[in-house]
Amino acid sequence: MPTPQPWFPDTHPCWLPAARGRHLAAARVEVDGGGPAGATVLDEVASLRAELGLGEPAADAPRWLFTTAGAPDGLRPGGFAVHHDGADRVVRAPDGAGLLHGFYRALVVPDVLDGTVEDPAVDLRMLDSWDNMTADGVMGSVERGYAGDSVLFRDGRVVEDLTRVRGFLRLMASVGLNAWALNNVNVHDAERGLVDEHLPDVARVADLARSFGVRVWLSVDFSSPISLGGLDVADPLDERVAAFWRETADRLYRAVPDLGGFLVKADSEGRPGPHAYGRDHADGANVLARALAPHGGTVLWRCFVYDHRQDWRDRSTDRARAAHDHFVPLDGRFDDNVVLQVKNGPMDFQVREPVSPLLGALRETTTAVEFQVTQEYTGQQQHVCYLAPQWSEVLRFDFGEGTSEPRTVADCARGGVVAVSNVGDSWCWTGHPLAQANLFAFGRLAWDPRLDPDALLGEWSRATFGDDEELLAGVHDVVAGSWRTYEDLTAPLGVGWMVSPHHHYGPDVEGYEYTAWGTYHFADRDGVGVDRTVATGTGYAGQYPPAHAARYEDLATCPEELLLFFHHVGYGHRLSTGETLVQRIYDTHFAGVEDVRRRAARWEEVADRVDERTAQEVRTRLAEQVRSAQEWCDRITTYFHRASGAPDAHGRRIF
Ligand code: GCU
Repeated sequence: MPTPQPWFPDTHPCWLPAARGRHLAAARVEVDGGGPAGATVLDEVASLRAELGLGEPAADAPRWLFTTAGAPDGLRPGGFAVHHDGADRVVRAPDGAGLLHGFYRALVVPDVLDGTVEDPAVDLRMLDSWDNMTADGVMGSVERGYAGDSVLFRDGRVVEDLTRVRGFLRLMASVGLNAWALNNVNVHDAERGLVDEHLPDVARVADLARSFGVRVWLSVDFSSPISLGGLDVADPLDERVAAFWRETADRLYRAVPDLGGFLVKADSEGRPGPHAYGRDHADGANVLARALAPHGGTVLWRCFVYDHRQDWRDRSTDRARAAHDHFVPLDGRFDDNVVLQVKNGPMDFQVREPVSPLLGALRETTTAVEFQVTQEYTGQQQHVCYLAPQWSEVLRFDFGEGTSEPRTVADCARGGVVAVSNVGDSWCWTGHPLAQANLFAFGRLAWDPRLDPDALLGEWSRATFGDDEELLAGVHDVVAGSWRTYEDLTAPLGVGWMVSPHHHYGPDVEGYEYTAWGTYHFADRDGVGVDRTVATGTGYAGQYPPAHAARYEDLATCPEELLLFFHHVGYGHRLSTGETLVQRIYDTHFAGVEDVRRRAARWEEVADRVDERTAQEVRTRLAEQVRSAQEWCDRITTYFHRASGAPDAHGRRIF
């Protein structure tokens, strides 16, 4: 018998501590069918037994049967059903991934109920790693990574020892994720070789991923026909370019027969794309799609397209409009195996943005929604910021409101639910131990967008920390509501971008105001915010279906948390709660600091109930969060006090 793979060697087990799987390790586990992923159930049981020091189960131990026979009709791929038979359990699934999902579910929720039937709402549930093969000097080896270096790449190649990758895949599969883009959407020179000299390594990773029910994807560079193919153009309508992509796809699929396909960032922030040849995004996506189609592959084409060389003096251009302006006219022109991947908001993963109108606008094209689990703009895994409520709000947003046809984002994004990963080689995977909650909740929401974020927080913390109710109450108080806190401190009423340029940590109210990035708030002595109305502004509000468009257009009906996203508002404007706009800005910032202090103090009440390392790592970060919150408060209150001249009604200290 092969030696079992260790269970999370040298790393935090996140929500899968071995002890939680004792009932599985002690059972007689049998697997019937399911291919490589089914076989992984047995491997995982062996790992758990080794970790827990358990021998072979007794002959009369309860039996867990995992079988692909007799799965309920209509269960989607990856789904499973649990049936109790006395002390025995039967997990039925249509495929190996489903068996594995049922296994992990029984680890996270040991008393998984008789009659549980779960299957995923959408076929593609994906994490995009923004991992580079070499450190790029500024950001380290993971772009916007706050949890150390890549678990996959080191020194310009795929790591030899895949133990950490195995742990990562276990985490993914345990929350039902089934697709993984291995490399950064910004494809640098080194990573181009993933379709070439590093292909055997990609195949090695794909083999392992397959055994966890995960398909791998590659980010590719649109100009590869030049850099790799020796051509002088990457024009998608040039037959030599099409041939290059066909040959590349053929080679890839010989090595990785179930490759998901390509993820592409083109004509975006300086990345090469079809525009250089006078072609559009449909031409660009389709040439890749046609190369992948014979192999069953898909192109995920990102819609993060805007003018990043805007003149700040130009008031007619609105970055928020860009994705809709670019892609709606192309609706219907994309091949069937193209999925447009749209960020959740029209700007860029800000703590608060409206839902991207593009997600509801494409009727003839498959779309996927993209979230950011890595906390680029939300505290960089120094701050506790539980983002599941944001994702849930987006997934439930209904473009069909006011009509007879409900069309939530979850309904519209039939192509998949995708997020940028927050994982690195840190001891706890996510830098901040409590940021594990975001990874967990993202996977669960991708599986079922109707799940309640607060319930997910409870599920995560119980699996992670055990059944110590006082500790769980403490963790809840530290984590729950932290997204709103971050918003209160950083982004008054939807305005965003008051962040330090480039690295995006900490306040700089005018840091982006006179730059080329299209990220302005237009604060002056009278007011702040961007007029995006149809009547007098950029017209962005008109990109929504009528009910939403009307609500955003009118200052009186615009949701307050988005007021300054849609309107330029005077400091003296009275909000629904009676205070002025500037007073609200003061109040949320002072309250935000108090809130963070309360969270830090709450942690101290329970810290001795967790292991020393977790206690300390969280403590250190909460101290930084308090410092940073104070800095945000002081800078923003002072800025608006100086701009408006309005005193704080409560006479608090402003500088
Ligand atoms: C953000 C981020 C970049 C990233 C880009 C993207 O702008 O700052 O690092 O490349 O998003 O999503 O492509």
